[in-house]
Amino acid sequence: MKRVFSGVQPTSQIHIGNYIGAIKRFVELQNDMDCFFCIVDLHSVTVPQDPKELYENSLQLAALYMAVGLDPSKVTLFIQSHVPAHAELSWLLQCNSYMGELNRMTQFKEKSLGKDTVTTGLFTYPILMAADILLYDTHYVPVGNDQKQHLELCRDIAIRFNNKYGESFVIPEPLIAKFGARIMSLDDATKKMSKSNENKHSKINLLDSPSKIKKSIMKAVTDSESEVRFDVENKPGVSNLMTIYNVLSGMSLDEIEGKYKGMGYGTFKKDLVEVVVSALEPIQSRYEEILKSGEVEKVLKEGSQRANEVSNKILDRVKKKMGFVTF
Ligand code: TYM
Repeated sequence: MKRVFSGVQPTSQIHIGNYIGAIKRFVELQNDMDCFFCIVDLHSVTVPQDPKELYENSLQLAALYMAVGLDPSKVTLFIQSHVPAHAELSWLLQCNSYMGELNRMTQFKEKSLGKDTVTTGLFTYPILMAADILLYDTHYVPVGNDQKQHLELCRDIAIRFNNKYGESFVIPEPLIAKFGARIMSLDDATKKMSKSNENKHSKINLLDSPSKIKKSIMKAVTDSESEVRFDVENKPGVSNLMTIYNVLSGMSLDEIEGKYKGMGYGTFKKDLVEVVVSALEPIQSRYEEILKSGEVEKVLKEGSQRANEVSNKILDRVKKKMGFVTF
């Protein structure tokens, strides 16, 4: 069975960009692949975190993974810091990668822009991500478009390592969706929807109430025309809303254009509110049930046990190749 690995940071709330670009796709893969889905808490601390919030967000993300439909009897759900091999392999890979390649990472440039100081962890972040993936002999990595460059770096590191030490790593392939791999901000359709945007109406979080969802969608930027038409270059705001509609309702872009022909943006937006609310309602009610049931801790313990078993074997294989003494 082919192996899948992906991760989400337990920082603040999870938004529909994360859902459409990544988490929803995890659910689609769970029946056919051996999937590892991780709560990447070590990545979160590359920028300052409130310890109490990090703790709560990590458990909440686990509940959310289950609420969207990930079935712990089919997939391995775990917290990254529960598997020490991630940090260890990250070190070994850091000693086999170069400042120049990290300097090219656009996400580092964006995240460090305007900051007086940034942590070294933020700089080496993509190598920890490479370690996450390579530790599981991963074939496929479902991610949003913003992770594409990190995946390319991961592949470069793995190929170089294999050339230097002999076959050690499986070379992973990114799985990036044709639609929805980059959901844009609702207040500025030239930027991606982002957890760190302080305008709460720039995004829709999975746990937002129907009234908040309605406000955010009704405020979303469109353009001075009134035609519901998919045209990313000239109508980025409307095209972004159409993408959300398409992915959450299953209706094709042509069908959406046909349905709202001559109707203007008002009706389209009102219907989009319905589409989003009815997609999120079942997730929200399952989320509450899962949190109350207390099963999250058990699932995470079992998940980390399997993740440790699988990853330790691979770490051992890599250490042997590098010449470390192992018994
Ligand atoms: P993170 O936590 O920022 O985002 C989680 C996932 O959501 C995707 N995503 C989006 N997709 C579409 N539209 C958007 N606006 C949008 N914003 C975010 C991301 O691409 C991601 O798939 N470095 C990763 C976490 C990570 C990881 C890994 C992923 C750590 N190790 C190993 C895959 C494999 C990150 O910060 O994702």
